[in-house]
Amino acid sequence: MFKNQEIAKDIFYVGVNDRQKHKFENMLPLPNGVSYNSYLIVDEKTALIDTVDISFGDIFIDKIQAQLKGRPLDYLIINHMEPDHSGSIRLIRKYYPDMVIVGNNKTLGMVEGYYGVADNTLEIKDGEVLSLGTHKLQFHITPMVHWPETMMTYDINHKVLFSGDAFGCFGTLDGTVIDAEMNIEKYWDEMIRYYANIVGKYGNPVQKALKKLTPLDFELICSTHGPVWKKYISEVVDMYDQMSRYHGEDGVVIVYGSMYGNTELMAETVAQGLAESGVKNIIIHNVSKSDSSVIIRDIFKYKGLIVGSPTYCNELYPEVESLLRKVEIRGVKNRVFGCFGSYTWASGAVKRLTTFVETMKWQTAELKVDEKQGLKTVNYDACLELGREVAVLMKNHVDEAPHCV
Ligand code: FEO
Repeated sequence: MFKNQEIAKDIFYVGVNDRQKHKFENMLPLPNGVSYNSYLIVDEKTALIDTVDISFGDIFIDKIQAQLKGRPLDYLIINHMEPDHSGSIRLIRKYYPDMVIVGNNKTLGMVEGYYGVADNTLEIKDGEVLSLGTHKLQFHITPMVHWPETMMTYDINHKVLFSGDAFGCFGTLDGTVIDAEMNIEKYWDEMIRYYANIVGKYGNPVQKALKKLTPLDFELICSTHGPVWKKYISEVVDMYDQMSRYHGEDGVVIVYGSMYGNTELMAETVAQGLAESGVKNIIIHNVSKSDSSVIIRDIFKYKGLIVGSPTYCNELYPEVESLLRKVEIRGVKNRVFGCFGSYTWASGAVKRLTTFVETMKWQTAELKVDEKQGLKTVNYDACLELGREVAVLMKNHVDEAPHCV
C-alpha cells in the first residue's frame, strides 16, 4: 500500500511522524511533533539507515516491506543508538534475521547492551566503504554528535550525507520530506531549540565533525529528525557552525523569577535601560511560565543574558536555580552577563548569581542590583544603569571561538 517518497535515486524515505508524544526525552515539549527519519537504499544489495521509535514499529515495517517487495534486507546501518532511532532494531531483526547490523565498535557494544543482539554484525572503521552496487557508503565516525558512537554515512556516488542527529530539528514532516517542497519557516527556531537542548553541550565535537565533513561534496543532508536538506544546505551547515561556536546574535535574554512582582519590575526596568541604549532584540522570560527548553534556545541564540531572582530560603528562587543548572551542564560559552535580585530579610540570590557567572567564565557587568523588599528610586535607577552597562559590554564584545567552516 505505501508509496514511499524517493528522495534520490533508489533512496526512499521510510520514517514516521510522532504527533502523540508530549515531551521529547520526557522533558522537551513537542508543540509541532517530531519525525524519526529512516532511509532505505534499494540497490543490488539493500540497506536501511537507522530505524524509528518502537512505538511506530508496525507502520515502519509495513513501509519497508512495501519497498522491498519480498527482497531481503541485507544491511542495517546504525548512525546513532539513542532509542528514538535504534528502538526498532530487535523488531527488524525478527522480520529479517539474516540482515547484517553495521556500526563501529561503540555502536555494536550498545546494540548488545540495549537489545541483546550480538550476532550477524559488521564492525566498520572510520573511512571504510561498503558497496551496495552503485551506492558506495563511506562511514565517518563523529563522536559526541550526540553520543559517543555517533557516525555519519556518506553515499559517495549519489552525494548524500546521512547525518544522524546533526542538522535535525523538531517538527513533523507534513506531506513531503524535502525542504524545497515545503514552507520551512517553522523549522528554524525548532532547529535551534533542538540543538541547544540536545547537542548543545558538544560544541567542540560538532566543530570537529564539521571540519571532517568539509571535503565531502553533498547535495542532500538526510538527518534523523526534520526535513531532508537540499535547498538550504549552506544555511543549516552555517547554523551548526555558529551554534557550535556558541556565537550569539546581538540581543539580550532577560530571565527572572518573581513571586509577587517586585523582581519582575526590576526585569522590566533593566529592559528599558537596554532599549534606551539601542538594543533591539530583548527577550524577557518569566522562568515560571516559559518552558526551559525555549529559554535555553534563546540563550544559545543571543549574546547577552541577564538573570534576576528573589532570595528564597537564603538561596536562589528554585525555578531560577533549576534553569541555571541546565545552562551549566550545557557549558554555554562566551556570553555577556548581568544580574539583579531582591530579598525580604537576608540577601542570597545575587551571591549565587555571582558564583554562577564565575563558573561560566563569562564577561559580566560590574553593577549588581540587590533590592530589599519593594523597588525604590535608587535601585530603579540602578536597574536602568545595569541595562545600559550590559548594552555597552555587548557592543565591545568579541567572539573568542574560531571559525571552522
Ligand atoms: Fe534523535 Fe540523539 O537521538
